[in-house]
Amino acid sequence: MTAQYSGPFREGDRVQLTGPKGKLNSITLESGKVFHTHRGFIDHDALIGLPDGSVVSNSVGVEHLALRPLLTDFVMSMPRGAAIIYPKDAAQILAQADIFPGATVVEAGVGSGALSLWLLRAIGPEGRLSSFERRDEFADVARANVAAYFGHVPDGWSVTIGDLAEALPEQHPSHSVDRVVLDMLAPWECVPAVAAALKPGGVVLCYVATVTQLSRVVEALRDADAFTNPVPSETMIRGWHVEGLAVRPDHRMIGHTGFLVTARRLAPGAVLPELKRRASKTDFADEDVEAWTPGALGERGISAKSLRKRVRAATATADAALAREARAAGAPETDAPLVGDSQPGAIPPRGDEID
Ligand SMILES: C[S@@+](CC[C@H](N)C(=O)[O-])C[C@H]1O[C@@H](n2cnc3c(N)ncnc32)[C@H](O)[C@@H]1O
Repeated sequence: MTAQYSGPFREGDRVQLTGPKGKLNSITLESGKVFHTHRGFIDHDALIGLPDGSVVSNSVGVEHLALRPLLTDFVMSMPRGAAIIYPKDAAQILAQADIFPGATVVEAGVGSGALSLWLLRAIGPEGRLSSFERRDEFADVARANVAAYFGHVPDGWSVTIGDLAEALPEQHPSHSVDRVVLDMLAPWECVPAVAAALKPGGVVLCYVATVTQLSRVVEALRDADAFTNPVPSETMIRGWHVEGLAVRPDHRMIGHTGFLVTARRLAPGAVLPELKRRASKTDFADEDVEAWTPGALGERGISAKSLRKRVRAATATADAALAREARAAGAPETDAPLVGDSQPGAIPPRGDEID
């Protein structure tokens, strides 16, 4: 992976500039280019070669702090097709699903690729991430975001277009996957396929936004008789204001994003002692099932026009990143786009596997 995490700023690096009053701007360093601030400008050449975390003055003496964006900064500002998993949940997902270097991980849906980025970084170059997404426009946004972040499409990453419940058995033999992470509307529909794919002892983690989804997926995992008792949780982070004697919680915080549920795959044929003792099965009626429809769950759609715009934005950023990597590797100049369906370059056409 060629994403640059430290060292002096190089041409092609993304740099986040914080100006007066905390105003943020991200630029990609290019020798000879100029960044115009509200008042004055900064030459990119004045930044190239400086250590990360430097303070530079613009042409009229206004100071700006220059830092490489963290992955958190990147995911929060990248183009989105579908809603992303926030960094606070991504961090918990890596811990609770026990994502490790070299792991074989299945993820669905890929959405905007935010979680894919965290997973790819955690599994490292020896790992394999197999992402599934049923909407190819979302997969385009995710592919572009991943390419823009790493500067290339990681070798161990594949994106399969299709419904996980059908596509997973075609892509992965039984008991061959270490971890499965589901972020989708109806993860309970995928429980049988996930149970078949996971290795004994493997972890499934579901991220769901509402309590109705939470109850349904927990019951589906229990009913599968193939998992340990599911463990649900939610994560809240409360920032603090600390200044002299004024030490107190921040006035604002993110109130709710989603719930996490984890369970581990039992060995084939094993029965949990506590499941044998389970007193009664909680059932649900037809009216409850109605409450689990996309509209009732508050899922907002995105218009085809805005989605096309976001695909264009993500693709343009990825093209620039891939072109820079190609230049750095000494490849001949080309005007043709590297992302999309016209090039044999870094990102294959829609619907195809990347690896
Ligand atoms: C909220 S988004 C995922 C966001 C993603 N985790 C991120 O951090 O950017 C949910 C995605 O799941 C996809 N999806 C829903 N059900 C699916 C299924 N059964 N198989 C594959 N993808 C599915 C949707 O099309 C949507 O793109």
